[in-house]
Parts: sequence; C-alpha cells; structure tokens
Amino acid sequence: MAKTAAALVVAAGRGTRLSGPDNKQPKQYRLLAGQPVLTHTLNALAKHPRISSIVTVIHPDDMALYRDAVASLSGSCAKKLHTEVFGGDTRQKSVVEGLRALAGTNCDYVLIHDAARPFVTTDIVDRLLSSLDSGADGALAASQVVDTLKKSQGDGKPLATVDRAGFWAAQTPQAFPLERILDAHERAASQHRHDFTDDTSLAEWDSMTIQLCDGDPVNFKITTMADLKRAEQQAKIQGMSDFTSVKTPLSQLHDIRTGIGYDVHAFDEGETVILGGAEIPHSRKLKGHSDADVVLHAITDATLGAIGDGDIGQHFPPSDQQWKGASSDRFQQDAMRRVTDLGGRIAHIDVTIVCEEPKIGPHRDRIRKSIAQICDILESRVSVKATTSERLGFTGRKEGIATLATVTVRLPLPEDE
Ligand code: CTP
Ligand code: MG
Repeated sequence: MAKTAAALVVAAGRGTRLSGPDNKQPKQYRLLAGQPVLTHTLNALAKHPRISSIVTVIHPDDMALYRDAVASLSGSCAKKLHTEVFGGDTRQKSVVEGLRALAGTNCDYVLIHDAARPFVTTDIVDRLLSSLDSGADGALAASQVVDTLKKSQGDGKPLATVDRAGFWAAQTPQAFPLERILDAHERAASQHRHDFTDDTSLAEWDSMTIQLCDGDPVNFKITTMADLKRAEQQAKIQGMSDFTSVKTPLSQLHDIRTGIGYDVHAFDEGETVILGGAEIPHSRKLKGHSDADVVLHAITDATLGAIGDGDIGQHFPPSDQQWKGASSDRFQQDAMRRVTDLGGRIAHIDVTIVCEEPKIGPHRDRIRKSIAQICDILESRVSVKATTSERLGFTGRKEGIATLATVTVRLPLPEDE
C-alpha cells in the first residue's frame, strides 16, 4: 500500500523583509488574487491525493489572521487540516513544533513547506514522494543555478567567478520519513544546534542521504514586495479559475455595495413556473425568451447593480438566439464571475416576489435553498419574501409575477480611496 504523507506548513515568521512602515502584516497573510497567501499554499498542497493531513505552524499573535485564512479554504482542503501549533523564533524551532504535533498521526512521510511559496505544484510533490518511495532518506525540491556565480572577496579585492556546475538553489517542500526527521530535529535541539536554515541541511548534519528533485521556477518564495508583485502576475497567468474554489473572508472585504433588481414576466399556457431555480407546480408558466425565472433575473440585475456593471439585457440580449430557453442560473453565474474578478463576494440576497398565485409560502424553503446553491452562499444569507398586491394592477389580475431583489456585494476597498 502507498505510504501516507502529511504536510507541515511553516507560517510563524514575521516577514520583516517585506513589511514596510505602513503595513506590518506578515507576508503569508497578505492578499494574493484576493486570498491570503497562506490560503493558496494550503489549497495547493491539499490538491495532492497522497497528502492526507496538514499541520500549520503559526505565530501566537496571528490567530485572528490564521482563522480568516482557513475560513476560505476549499472544502477538500479544510477536511485535511489536522491542527495548528505555535512556532518558535527561528524557522528550525517552528518546524520541530510542527513535527511534534504530527508525531501522533500515522503518516509515514512529511513534506515540510514554507507558507510563503503558494505556487507549489502537484508535480513537485509527486517527484518528492517517489524519491522517498524509492528509499531516499530525504528529498529536496531545487532548481539548478543558471546565473553565473560570483564570489565577493571583500572591499577592493577582485571578484572571483565560481563554476556553477553542480550548484542547486534549494526550495521547499523538503520531504522525509516523519519519524526519521523528527529524530534528527530532536537531536539537533538537544545539542543546542539552532542554526539550520532549512531541513535538508539539518538532515545532512544527521548523516541522512538527500536526493535532489527538480523544483519549478514558479515555486518561488515571496520574500520582498517585488516578489509579491511577481506573485500577483503569476496568479493572473494561472487564471483566476484556479482560485475560485477559495473565498476571501468577508471580514477582509470592506467595500460594501448594494444593488437593486426588478423584473416582471407574464403568464402563458403551461404547468410550472421556475422561481429562483426551483420548479413550482402551477396551472400556468411564465413567458420569456429564457426559462423566464423572474426571481433569478432580478437577482442578476441586483448583482450587476452592486458592481456598476450594466444589466442583464446588456450582457444577454433577448435578440441573441443562444439564450433562447437558457437556464437563468447561467446569467447569475456570469454576474458572479464579474464579482469574483473584482476580488469580491455576494454577502446577502433579499427577494420579494409579488403575485396572487402560485402561493409562495409552501415553496419558500426550496426557493431559498436553490438561490443559496446557485449563488454559492449560506442559506442564512438568503431571504425570500412574498406578497400579493391586494388584487390591484397586473399582478393583482393574475397576469404575471413581479420580483424585487436586493443584493449586497462586498469588495476589497481600493487603496486610493
Ligand atoms: N518561519 C517560521 N518561523 C520562524 C521563521 C520563519 O515558521 N521563526 C517560516 C516563515 O513564515 C516562512 C518560512 O518559514 O513561511 C521561510 O522563512 P522566511 O522566508 O525567512 O520568512 P520570514 O522569516 O517570515 O521573513 P523575514 O526573514 O523576511 O522576516
Ligand atoms: Mg526569515
């Protein structure tokens, strides 16, 4: 049977080389493509099917930031989170705390990884695990040095050129049999050796044989502000879709917008109406170019209104044959993508359906659930209300259904506002 693997993510550093006087937030909690860097790192590792458990080492001062970062993990990653532990004042001390927390699990291998490397790939993890499977004491993701290497010999002395053949730049993850590396770390600690900057150098000191594996230039470490900017570019190149399963915590989205939507559809001969994506039996249907879901249309217009991005008719003209009979969640998905592209989320939806018939009360919960599912928010963030118009006007004469929707969208606050 394949050996099992855990990931140990060290995130207890202070990020001093990146923080400036105005922002002391450690780099692993800075936003990248709308999500904390750490959230990306955890999701990326959790994608690997052989990683079954993840321990994160954090700084005691960062508990609130950490909670926010894990609140928006993909569901499959959240399931793999084992625990978090507090780190020490050096990376080595942080690692040993994480290893001790993993000692109780029955994982065979551990991949030790920097939180500040959010672009780790499943291919790198594959290569590391196969090295261990074939018997290595440890495996290291690294890239061959391609630049000419120079050695400064001190002020006024000539520069020396070093032959770069055989030189590799170490990355993380670094992978080991769990018990073996914990042993090595405990030995180093007991001998007061706290100066190892990565785990393979500690392993070499403890006579372990380490195998080099190809890393990936994309798996760079965010160290300075220039790296964070490069990471933003990289996230764009990889496509936002890689990041859509991950949600920015609402508490980080300070720009709160509201949009209103209104729609009307007339009745026609038929047997069901579709409201908020739910099919409701009725003696008539609603007439329209698409599936005539008057509730979703109002929600889509309200969503677009909240981000100031036109209206449903502009993006999906009724004259366009491709939308004939279309399921209206398609329109709402498009509006939600526009919100996601701005780094935002829908926070609340309030709907009022105006009609004499059908009676909405018996179907209210189903409509609410369906809207929550389509809009990817909690049911508690959706409200569905209904009213008649006291037999007045077109709704009173049972000629059709009208719907009003209010959608609250939260976006990151632009820095210049
Ligand atoms: N790290 C840690 N505990 C420490 C120091 C570092 O868990 N006491 C983690 C960092 O959070 C980071 C990784 O080790 O994910 C690599 O360290 P580095 O890039 O040096 O991060 P920082 O120490 O946070 O940054 P700086 O050195 O600029 O302060
Ligand atoms: Mg450091």
